[in-house]
Amino acid sequence: MASLTRTLPASWYCSSPLYQLERRAVFLKGWYLLGPVTKFQVVGEKVGYEVAQVPLAARRMSEEPRDIKVFNETTGFELRSYITETGLVFSTISDEAPPFDEFFPDLKPLIGRVDFTKLPYRRSVKYEGRFNWKTMVDGYQECLHCQYTHPSFSVYYPPTFYTVYNHKNFSQHVADPQKPEDGLFLYFFPNCTLNVYGGGMSSFRVCPTEKPGITRMEFDYYHQESGEKFEEYFKFVRQVAMEDYELCEKAQENLEKGVYSEGILNPEKETGVAYYQQRVLELVCAQHETERESESRDIYRSSNRSDSVASQLVDPAAS
Ligand SMILES: [Fe+2]
Repeated sequence: MASLTRTLPASWYCSSPLYQLERRAVFLKGWYLLGPVTKFQVVGEKVGYEVAQVPLAARRMSEEPRDIKVFNETTGFELRSYITETGLVFSTISDEAPPFDEFFPDLKPLIGRVDFTKLPYRRSVKYEGRFNWKTMVDGYQECLHCQYTHPSFSVYYPPTFYTVYNHKNFSQHVADPQKPEDGLFLYFFPNCTLNVYGGGMSSFRVCPTEKPGITRMEFDYYHQESGEKFEEYFKFVRQVAMEDYELCEKAQENLEKGVYSEGILNPEKETGVAYYQQRVLELVCAQHETERESESRDIYRSSNRSDSVASQLVDPAAS
């Protein structure tokens, strides 16, 4: 039997030094979905974000809807951003991110099928939750919990057909292959999602704070309608979001109790979780290795330097 993928250890959901390592290994090297171009309606208006303690602002520069620039709010410098043909705006938060096409090499053909600009921006909601950013992504990346946690959602999107396709740095979830424009859920590594279902569209960011057990959730909602129909959609999708929120707080409590350490993932139903967790593991281990090597080089250099200083003090002839 092929070996089963193990989950990340519970300690990775509770440790501050581990989060700092994740920040350097994963977050500073990523690309982030800010929203479709319709999020930036007013020319000149600043739309603020904060990803892994980097404050950024996106601004529509002219009447041209695709003329959007993103700036680091602390330095004032422009950050690299990218707008896909179907209107999704992505941004980096540091120079350490690779080029967009290298980060998402096979994203364009897939998202090319849906026009993300047809639904106007309606509303945003944000709040903090007592869970690690990965606790929320774990839940998003599988639908085993859907039937029990989301009874109303499961009526419209039965888990029977639910499939996850993993690609480099993103996953595509399809609730029903017969309806690719409804029940389409996209996860962008590490912490952004785009969800087309219930007649509208939402996007959320799972923003880590400096405390590993606290995460800020940020949701943006899009819908053709603005009145009652939008409120009906909003009520439906908020219900699903709150069900996930409660589940994450409970899961985090258990992760912090120290009883559970790690488990194995379902090889069919949890491939989305296995994919993104392995990606985190790979990047964190590589970062740790690089930092350890450069640290030992520094120690070697400084000990050589102090040896030569010491020898000069003892034996003036050595100089
Ligand atoms: Fe859920």
